[in-house]
Amino acid sequence: MLADKEIHIWFIPIDNFLNEVEKLTGFLSKEEVLKSGKFYSENDSNKFIILRAILRKILGTYLDTDPQNIRFKNNAFGKPYIHPDSDDDKTKFNLSHSGNYGVYAFSRDAETGIDIEKTRPVIDMNAMAKRFFSTKEVDALMSLPQGEQMNAFFKCWTMKEAYVKACGKGFSVPLDKFAIDFMSDSPKLLNVDWDPEEITKWAIYNINTPTGYVTSLAAAGHNHQIIYRDAEKNWDSQ
Ligand SMILES: CC(C)(COP(=O)(O)OP(=O)(O)OC[C@H]1O[C@@H](n2cnc3c(N)ncnc32)[C@H](O)[C@@H]1OP(=O)(O)O)[C@@H](O)C(=O)NCCC(=O)NCCS
Repeated sequence: MLADKEIHIWFIPIDNFLNEVEKLTGFLSKEEVLKSGKFYSENDSNKFIILRAILRKILGTYLDTDPQNIRFKNNAFGKPYIHPDSDDDKTKFNLSHSGNYGVYAFSRDAETGIDIEKTRPVIDMNAMAKRFFSTKEVDALMSLPQGEQMNAFFKCWTMKEAYVKACGKGFSVPLDKFAIDFMSDSPKLLNVDWDPEEITKWAIYNINTPTGYVTSLAAAGHNHQIIYRDAEKNWDSQ
């Protein structure tokens, strides 16, 4: 069950489910099965099947319904929601994937955005930061010792993505026009140029993540309780 203020986080080690692709395909809708056949690589197709089927399976237990019956609708920027005609259209979710991991965030009614990135050396990191980050964020990144910059870069990146995904407005959000205090243990929005009220509306969280990855969450409201779930042990006992 999802209680008020709870946000449940599920990490999925994708490779662990590769031998279940055939079974998991059975949870997909007809449209999703068709989509899974259109990927260029089998790897991407399998990833899509695994992540979509597990999303349906987890949502099915939260909503107490057959995973196959769940209908989704995307907003104008591609953010998926439970279809507004469904019995329970309040439950919110968001997901992200990178490398071998998928991650989901589920909440009872708080809008969320989650982002995971596999950390790796970024050759043009300074140029990327100057292009996508606000001046405050670039300054904070550059003030760090060189050895800490790669991890900090991905922290900032995932927090910005998480906020953009929580807003649900995709590339229409100007990335350099908002700033996050991304190095703090309690990260927060510092400014949002197009609407100063935004900084009071969203919480930003560091999410405990498998080694080699960085994950961040943005959620509407404050004082959420973050609860970690295990997809391999916990299918039916949310
Ligand atoms: C749409 C967008 C949010 C997806 O992010 P991504 O890092 O490419 O991919 P992720 O793995 O994190 O998330 C993908 C999932 O997010 C969800 N999603 C799609 N569009 C979304 C949107 N507008 N808002 C929130 N979630 C969205 C979907 O469930 C998608 O799953 P799918 O791949 O199975 O369809 C992203 O492409 C985008 O618009 N980014 C803008 C910000 C940017 O350029 N940042 C640069 C670094 S700061």
